[in-house]
Amino acid sequence: MRFSLAYVTLLAATAAASFEGNLNYESPSRRHAGLGIDVPLVQRRSWKRGNVAYKPEELSFTHGVASGDPWPESVILWTRIAPSNGSDASEVTVKGTSALYNHETEKYVKADPNPICLDWKVFKSKCGNGTQEVITSGKAYTTSDIDYTVEAKGLKPLTKYYYQFTVCGSNKKSPMGRTKTAPNKDDDVSRLSFAVFSCSNFPNGYFNAYGNAARKDKHDYVIHLGDYIYETGKKGERATMPNGTIFTLHDYRTRHGQYRTDPDLQLLSKTHPWITTWDDHEFANNGYRDGFSALNNTEDSFLKGPKVTVDTRKVNAVRAYFEWMPIRQADLDDGLRIWRSFQMGKLLDLIVLDTRNYDRSITSLGWNDHYIDLIRDDPARTLMGSRQENWFYKSLSESKDRGAAWRLVGNQIIFSRIFSNDKGALSGDNWNGYIANRNRTLQHLYDNKIGNNIFLAGDSHQNWVSDLAWLGSREYDMASGKGAIGVEFAGTAVSSSGRAGPIEPAAGDYARGMIKRNEEMMWQEGYYRGYFQLDVTPKEVTAQFFGCPSVATRNGWEIPLANFTVVSGEDHLHRPIAGGRAESGALRFGEVKHTNLTRNTETGEWKVIGFEKMFI
Ligand SMILES: *[C@@H]1O[C@H](CO)[C@@H](O)[C@H](O)[C@H]1NC(C)=O
Ligand SMILES: *[C@@H]1O[C@H](CO)[C@@H](O)[C@H](O)[C@H]1NC(C)=O
Ligand SMILES: *[C@@H]1O[C@H](CO)[C@@H](O)[C@H](O)[C@H]1NC(C)=O
Ligand SMILES: *[C@@H]1O[C@H](CO)[C@@H](O)[C@H](O)[C@H]1NC(C)=O
Ligand SMILES: *[C@@H]1O[C@H](CO)[C@@H](O)[C@H](O)[C@H]1NC(C)=O
Ligand SMILES: *[C@@H]1O[C@H](CO)[C@@H](O)[C@H](O)[C@H]1NC(C)=O
Ligand SMILES: *[C@@H]1O[C@H](CO)[C@@H](O)[C@H](O)[C@H]1NC(C)=O
Repeated sequence: MRFSLAYVTLLAATAAASFEGNLNYESPSRRHAGLGIDVPLVQRRSWKRGNVAYKPEELSFTHGVASGDPWPESVILWTRIAPSNGSDASEVTVKGTSALYNHETEKYVKADPNPICLDWKVFKSKCGNGTQEVITSGKAYTTSDIDYTVEAKGLKPLTKYYYQFTVCGSNKKSPMGRTKTAPNKDDDVSRLSFAVFSCSNFPNGYFNAYGNAARKDKHDYVIHLGDYIYETGKKGERATMPNGTIFTLHDYRTRHGQYRTDPDLQLLSKTHPWITTWDDHEFANNGYRDGFSALNNTEDSFLKGPKVTVDTRKVNAVRAYFEWMPIRQADLDDGLRIWRSFQMGKLLDLIVLDTRNYDRSITSLGWNDHYIDLIRDDPARTLMGSRQENWFYKSLSESKDRGAAWRLVGNQIIFSRIFSNDKGALSGDNWNGYIANRNRTLQHLYDNKIGNNIFLAGDSHQNWVSDLAWLGSREYDMASGKGAIGVEFAGTAVSSSGRAGPIEPAAGDYARGMIKRNEEMMWQEGYYRGYFQLDVTPKEVTAQFFGCPSVATRNGWEIPLANFTVVSGEDHLHRPIAGGRAESGALRFGEVKHTNLTRNTETGEWKVIGFEKMFI
């Protein structure tokens, strides 16, 4: 038996506040016409005669718990409670009706009218036996309109907390999560640590990097620089759901849901708060403001393609992202805005950018590379749009003015100039396709003497560590690093493919070529999947890079690849770089252990025949 109507009506008396208490009803934008959920409609529908509530035993916490966007007094808490694992088939709440349109089936689907009620509690200690002190608590409702996700908030500075959700009036509990708030912006903080990830492709391999970081528990916060999901379909051991490329809201919800079934993703979500931004694949490959490499914004593409416009696909991707990620909306009037910043004590500002979807000029789309080559210097080209770009420079200046020791820039794509071959070829899909935008950034840093900058990047599936130099404009000395204005740490993928083939010769030759060709680049490594850990103290920043030797199975193997130090005030990698030694790749002024392999010409198998040390 389900709950009676009397119970549902009683519940509705408090529902108004509680629906609004669930941030997901504001996603992606409460005030943007046509995007916001019609909450009064959801409430009216919930009270309808004959409507019966779910029994607790009909419901499950289907995808664990997560937390994110730590502020001094609050952090986003996330879970999903639902009558089924699958995502809701409804598409967009059409204002004024209670029907929802599903673009896949081309039918209107009635929204499930039953709201689900959750109590959430935040504790100081872990044990779930009911005796621990409750720091704060609340009630939240969720419905099919938002795929049954829940977000809640309310806490105190730089403190570890535990949290748990319970189905109202029952003993059905979510897993116990752990999180940590940020320090107040004027606090003296001696150390903060971040585990930095990018490019987690579910069908391509296991998320061992997430699991390793969670189990070691050496960091305070997770930073994910994007490509957290991928839009294309793939068969195999970890075949995608849905099986093909995703376009509709239901598609994006289903894909997010599948990624959250991964036990290592669930573990790292349960143990640490995440700060995320998106890159292209949360939407589609090589995106920019008006399209993707495989979806043009033209009538031809629309009629012959999936019959989803570029704009609708973007809204679907954004909406599912905000529903499924523990993230705040930076601006309720701007559903596409994800760029935001975190002031973490006097120690650092973390400035998180969207160089991808917000307002990027045309990018390399596979068929237009010659065109991008012709226009890469065009001063009007932008990665961010002027609104975000002005905010970025203002944030850098404000960070210096308030005396923050370090500026961390959480950005998707590689910033440094990288000639990829001897003819001087540059990528069209990272900052090298938007040279004026990079020059303006460097100009702002140099002109305003803003130092201690650490740029972070993902996207490339390889490791690249460089001094942040403005070659051709400011003098830079490769040997000492003098003349640079900071450092770039660009990390490898969690599971997306890097350099094909074994460590030697394919990846090693490539890495050595890169170092020889690019004077500000100090380490290149493309064989290992993995992540890096940043430890920030007032005196120095260290980055420890870790490699996962195989993502073909779920395992805990991990190799320390290289350690880098940046000393406050030096504005370049501290010499000797990486202490003069790295485990893999190519290191300038340093030694790398290379595996010497030989290939059996008949079977094609590679065999290790020894190790050698190489110095560049
Ligand atoms: C839902 O997912 C959980 C966890 O993956 C699984 O144990 C359960 O069998 C699934 N339920 C259904 C109905 O598929
Ligand atoms: C609850 O857990 C705490 C901490 O583990 C323990 O001290 C306490 O005795 C437990 N209480 C009950 C009733 O089990
Ligand atoms: C993919 O899924 C669709 C819809 O569920 C189904 O019709 C189709 O047969 C599937 N294709 C493959 C190759 O599995
Ligand atoms: C997009 O347009 C370009 C230029 O006309 C064409 O080469 C490309 O194949 C189109 N892509 C798709 C996915 O239709
Ligand atoms: C960027 O700066 C470099 C170094 O000063 C200069 O050579 C180049 O012309 C500049 N390009 C643009 C597009 O501003
Ligand atoms: C990096 O530093 C850690 C901690 O000091 C050490 O255990 C590790 O071996 C170092 N890694 C490399 C590649 O030097
Ligand atoms: C790798 O090992 C082979 C066989 O011992 C040797 O001939 C070759 O010189 C080694 N490669 C390098 C680059 O040292």
